[in-house]
Formats: sequence, C-alpha cells, structure tokens
Amino acid sequence: MKAIDIRNKYLKFFEKNGHKIIPSAPLIPENDPSVLFTTAGMQPLVPYLLGQKHPEGKRLTDYQKCLRTNDIDEVGDNRHLTYFEMLGNWSLGDYFKQESIKMSYEFLTKELGIPSEKISVTCFKGDEDCPKDVETAEAWEKSGIPKERIYFYGKEDNWWIAGEEGPCGPDTEMFYDTGKPKCSEDCQPSCDCGKYVEIWNNVFMEYYKKDGKYTKLEQKNVDTGLGLERMAMLLQNKETPFDTEIFKPVMDKLKELAKNDDISSRRIVAEHLRASIMIVSDGGRPSNIDRGYILRRLIRRMTRHLNKLEIDLNKLPELIDLNIDTLEKLYPELQKNREVIKEVIVTEKDKFMKTLNNGEREFNKVITRLKEKNINKVDSKTIFNLYETYGFPPEVTKDLAIENGFEVNLDEVDKLFKEHQEKSRMGSEHKFKGGLAEQNEKTIAYHTATHLLNAALKEVIGKDSHQRGSNITSERMRFDFNCDHKLTDEEKKKIEDLVNKWIDEDLDVKVEKMKKEDAIKSGAECMFIEKYPDEVTVYTIGDVSKELCGGPHVKHTKELGHFKIVKEEASSQGVRRIKAILEEK
Ligand code: ALA
Repeated sequence: MKAIDIRNKYLKFFEKNGHKIIPSAPLIPENDPSVLFTTAGMQPLVPYLLGQKHPEGKRLTDYQKCLRTNDIDEVGDNRHLTYFEMLGNWSLGDYFKQESIKMSYEFLTKELGIPSEKISVTCFKGDEDCPKDVETAEAWEKSGIPKERIYFYGKEDNWWIAGEEGPCGPDTEMFYDTGKPKCSEDCQPSCDCGKYVEIWNNVFMEYYKKDGKYTKLEQKNVDTGLGLERMAMLLQNKETPFDTEIFKPVMDKLKELAKNDDISSRRIVAEHLRASIMIVSDGGRPSNIDRGYILRRLIRRMTRHLNKLEIDLNKLPELIDLNIDTLEKLYPELQKNREVIKEVIVTEKDKFMKTLNNGEREFNKVITRLKEKNINKVDSKTIFNLYETYGFPPEVTKDLAIENGFEVNLDEVDKLFKEHQEKSRMGSEHKFKGGLAEQNEKTIAYHTATHLLNAALKEVIGKDSHQRGSNITSERMRFDFNCDHKLTDEEKKKIEDLVNKWIDEDLDVKVEKMKKEDAIKSGAECMFIEKYPDEVTVYTIGDVSKELCGGPHVKHTKELGHFKIVKEEASSQGVRRIKAILEEK
C-alpha cells in the first residue's frame, strides 16, 4: 500500500468514527518559542489538550509534518529520518482507553489488513506517580491480543511527554513482528534488534508535568501518533523506508549519477534533501541560529555527501525537481514553492562550497605551520576548530591531511564533537522547558503587540512586508519579517511611535469566526493560508490590523503598556528580526 493510500485510509477511518479532519500545521511552529520544529501531531494542539475548546470539536484527526533533530547524525543507517509524517487522532476530553484501543485495533487489522498475530502491545507497568494500566491491557485482550503478547514497561518506554513540561500520560505502543528470529531468548518489543518495529503510540494524557511533579488534567485526552514512512515500509515488505516510493526515485537517480556509490551517502542525501525541501516550503531559511542552523546543517551535510558520491553539483536543481515530483501527491503545496525551494537550497549549497574552499586555504596555512615545526600530526583541536570556524568537515580535513602525509586521529575529534553535541542537545532541551503552552498576561499582551508591529511595518516599510516568524516569551517578543535592508533609526522610531499611538488610542480587539474564504476576501492577513481549517478565527484591532490567528489576545490595546524596540538585526537572507519589549507606563 502506498503512503498516500495509508494516509487517506487513516483520515477516512477516523472521520467515519466521528473525527473532524484538520489540516497539518506548518513544520515551523507559529508563536511557539519552546520548540524549533513541530515534532509531533499533538504540539499544535496543546492549548486544546489543556482545555481550550477546539472549533472543530472533541474528536480530531490529521497528518502532521514533523521534524526531529536529535538523530541527525544517525541518518544514513537503515531507519533514521529527520523529517517524517505523523498520522494522529485525538480525543479532547471525549473517548478514552477502551474506544481508542478498539479503533486502533480495527484500523490495523481490518483497514490495513495486518494479521492480528503480528501485533504485540506494551502498556505502562505503574509506579509511584500513576498506577499500572490494567484497563488498557484488558481492552487489548478484549480486542483479540492474547496476554502473552501484552508487555508491561516503566516510564522509560510507556510514558509520553514532549520535553520536560506539558501534558503527558501513560501510553500503549503497538509493535509489528517482522517475522525475523528472536535475537535472544528474552527478545521483546522493547528490544532494538529489528524483530519488532513500533508502529503506533496511543498516549492517555491525563497528567500535566511541571518541575518534576505530576498533576491531573481537567480533561482526559487521547493523543496518538503513527509514523507514515515506517508503516509504508512494513506494508510494502521493504527493509528500509528508502526502498518505498517516498524515496526510491531519488535513491535510484543518485545511484545513476554517482561515480563513487555508497548506500549510506545516498540515504543521507535523499533524507536531508527531502527534509530541506519541506522546511524551505514552510518558510524556513538557512541562518546561523536555531532552526535556520538546522536547515543549514542539513544542506551542508547533503552537499558533502553529494561530493562524496562524486555527483556533479550542477545536478542539484534536477534532483530537487525530481524530489518535489515524487512528493507531489503527499504535499501538493511543494509545486507552488518549487522555484523558491530550488533557489534557497542551491544558494546555500554555493555558499557552502565557498566555505569549503576557504577552509581549504586555512587548512593549507595550518599544514605549512606544522611543516615548519616538523610536526607530522594534525591535532584534533585544529580539526574541530576548522569545522567550528569555517564549517570545514573533519572527513575532508582528514583526507587532505593524509594526502599531505600527516596523521590524524578522528576518534579524538569524535570525542570533541560528542562534547559539543551534548552541549547543543542540552541547549535544545532547555528550549523545551519553556513549556509548550505558556500563556500568561505578559505573553498574551506580546501576542497582541505582534499584530500591531506587523501592521506598523506595513505602513513604514511597505505593504510587501510580511511576517516570517514570531517568538514570544514572558520577557520579550521577537518578530521576523521580510525586508531588504537594515532599518534606519528613523524607521525604527516611526514604527515605535505608530504602535504606541495605537496603544494610546485604546483600540478594541475584536474576535470573530468566519469562513476561510470570507476572511481572505475581507483582507485578513495570515502566514500559511492553506494550513487553516475552513472555519477560522479572525482578530481585528480597530481598523489597524486584521489577522487570522488562534489567539488569545487582550481586549483593549491600552493593556499593552509602552512598546519599545530593543534590537533590529538580520535573521536570514532578506529577513530582518525585531526584538521588542512592553514596558509599564
Ligand atoms: N505524541 C505521541 C508521539 O509522538 C503520540 O509518539
């Protein structure tokens, strides 16, 4: 079964069971400072999991574009992906364990035709925070999974939360038995040997974790996630996702073009290219920080492996075209963004090639110095620095060093990288700690100020200035917008004055629900129109601003205080960033 058919079957099945199909949120979260990319279907739904009413009701289903970056360096093996699609269904305080399990079982066995004997499940074994999940196990038995294929594990396997704080709860995971022999006598679904493949995770979200403590949520939710690429692989009897129709055309083309074939390099190119295409299509641009840096790393790593495969880099636009065509059915929006996707990725590749050339010059200086000193080893610190400062990849340094008769020890370099990675991993986990749905008076005020700033920019910079990103914490707001120049002091002053004038006028903030087409016709502004459901919420501030937005907002602009720009800087090519604060008046 093709991926698109699995997705359609999934959405239809849950629609038939009373769920509303909602659109995938963008890969780049809007107004969520706590994460770089959408990493799970539940993320855009956090406010609703916490009790806010969803306009489409209590039963929802969707496919969600996701990106997880912790395993970038593992890509190239037979299973790791950064970008993936998650199919999900949610109960927002509606059905719970029994019905969720009944539907999952029916979907797997009847709709997808997976033989019941191939399914094993795992449940939460209980601890001091939450009792053993007997109800879930009994529901599985009732559905037709015998006791011997029901396993119980602790929090490390059967508890789900995004990061450190947020809605969470025990989960039940479904595993597919590939039929491979057991790796040992007690080979179980938790084993990594490849016999069992996790296919679906149903989380019973009835807790909220904060500062290490669990409290009960007001409503009991169900949050599920099924990985599309993995399911396609299993149903097509393939060994890896790269053998499915999602990747195969690109993998084959790379093989045809490669003068020095290597399966792992081809997987890296195919995976990173797809991920980069998806990020750029949703508005991401390469830069040196946060999500822009992830995109930059993906494109660089891809370029390096194209080089390794000895593929002519001028073939990149052709490869992007082929990849977009391959994904056409799954993501029709890529067609429309084809040219900008090509432009961004190719420009970044060119920049990286320059970096490589600069790095080589620096490398040569190092070599000359070492030769003068009669040293015949390039130490790991130098290799690491060449990477940190010039983006010069250690493998390239190593090759050049050896060509020049020098020794290198990449294991030592590896150690430095691991330390570095650990630091950046801690950095990105820290991001999670901000909480997914931190909403307080201050963030709400910043949210409204964002709309005013957006409107002021249109007046001062021009109508073509659009929002490219936003990030709010209790301390400040950050707003990215397209603009081809550094703002002058005069422009900044004008923007501040306008926003403060609107605040002083104490404009009403009005919220209304309307049909998406009507909202567009009425001139409401929004970043990703196709991502919104048919019925949308529109916030109007006086006659100054009208935007599609989930809210919440203040009721009157006077509540905002005094608006002040604290920084204006480049964010990425053609995109500027303003950091601003609201002060007490
Ligand atoms: N949110 C759950 C997961 O990502 C379903 O596995």
